[in-house]
Amino acid sequence: MKIIIERNLEALSVKAALLFTRISEDAIRMSGRFVTALSGGKTPRRTYEILSTDEYRKKIDWSKIHIFFVDERCVPPDHPESNFGLIRNSLLERISIPPENVYPIRVQGMSISDSVRNYEDRIKNFFYMGKTGVFPSFDFILLGIGQDGHTASLFPGTRNLSETEHLVVAVERKNAHPARITLTLPVLNNAANVVFLVSGSEKASVLEKVVRRREPALPASLINPARGTCFFLIDEEAGKHILAAEVINRA
Ligand code: 6PG
Repeated sequence: MKIIIERNLEALSVKAALLFTRISEDAIRMSGRFVTALSGGKTPRRTYEILSTDEYRKKIDWSKIHIFFVDERCVPPDHPESNFGLIRNSLLERISIPPENVYPIRVQGMSISDSVRNYEDRIKNFFYMGKTGVFPSFDFILLGIGQDGHTASLFPGTRNLSETEHLVVAVERKNAHPARITLTLPVLNNAANVVFLVSGSEKASVLEKVVRRREPALPASLINPARGTCFFLIDEEAGKHILAAEVINRA
């Protein structure tokens, strides 16, 4: 686990953009492509905007980058809660990435179970995977943490946390929240790099439980890539309960 504390959300976002750039360059050099899965939420928006500025946009070889989505709410793309909408507006429409390199979770015009199957099949096709029980290895997965300890759309106390076969599952929500679709823990834990972005004092308490105590009831504590690296990129407010000795300020 590598913990990096930056002063504020802006510095955190610059660091995340640098990490994305560096790891994508390495992956493209090694294997000719870079495969990422990106999250929605408020925190990563600035990272996406920075990646689409001239300084980064021109450095990155977008033709070799493949963008998947960590999770999605079952809402239209123009809905304020759509992760596809967020990532399209803050990144995709500002860079020249071939449209066939973007793999949205399709949630319109099909049932949730068909959406799940469709997304899982497209991931399997991309990674040339036949059998079940085999998991793809993304180069870079960007995650956030909710105040309740959820990550991706994996919520505390849900049976999706014990999924061992599927790459993608449906998430039924109570209280009129839209249903969601998410990558599963075995996929997240098979990545080469998992990068959590966490900002703000309201996340300090949960972050302490995830990073220091690894409380197993919190889905974010279950992220532990077996053959990869897990980065926590956090700002000072979110990191106020993390000991300085635990922090490595370089990526
Ligand atoms: C989403 C993600 C979710 C998110 C956390 C943190 O699409 O919203 O599924 O896991 O990363 O809820 O969100 P914030 O960045 O908004 O705090």
